[in-house]
Amino acid sequence: MKKTLLALAATGALCGAPLAQAADALPANFLYDTGTKNKTIWPKPVANSGVVKYNEHRQDLSRWPSLSYQDHRSTKKPETVALQGPLNGNADNGKKLAMNNQKGNCWACHALPGDPQPGSGGPTLLNAGTWRYTDANMYQQIWDRRVANPATVMPPFGTNGALSDQEIRDIVAYLQSLK
Ligand code: HEC
Repeated sequence: MKKTLLALAATGALCGAPLAQAADALPANFLYDTGTKNKTIWPKPVANSGVVKYNEHRQDLSRWPSLSYQDHRSTKKPETVALQGPLNGNADNGKKLAMNNQKGNCWACHALPGDPQPGSGGPTLLNAGTWRYTDANMYQQIWDRRVANPATVMPPFGTNGALSDQEIRDIVAYLQSLK
């Protein structure tokens, strides 16, 4: 009886505000506890295949939910594309698209002129026009960078339909103008 009361008192103490907050923090051993049942999973794309496999976390992380736990869609396969005809890109529009966070949002990861807080995830694009990339090669990088680097974090803007053919042409024209 005495033991039960003590246990209840301890449970009550755990419900106190400061402790409840601490309980929301990730456990220190969250990657290493191999004994945990009910493990959650994390997506692991198989390079160049369009297939996503799922590995188990070594702990049950369902208290810290993420959409990736429910989203089992496979990714589209990397696409190699050939730029058709002359570029016909509008660099001014390309600049707008690159800096529009509903469109290219390139500056989230890359440095671009006029960007007050350059992204540092990818290489700077400040001098992209001096790289001597052909228009077709530049177009491919934006259409689907996974062809060059299967493990890239850069979204495949063309393959995913995030940018149209003409929008990518405009961005290529803009990048080629950066010298
Ligand atoms: C989520 C971050 C991210 C976004 C958004 C992003 N990129 Fe990238 N990009 C990268 C990274 C990282 C690399 C280089 C390493 C790699 O392949 O992942 C890269 C590589 C490139 C390259 C090739 C560079 C080379 O040396 O060949 C070009 C060109 C490029 N990005 C242009 C763009 C453009 C244009 C946009 C917007 C339409 C954009 N990126 C959006 C992360 C991003």
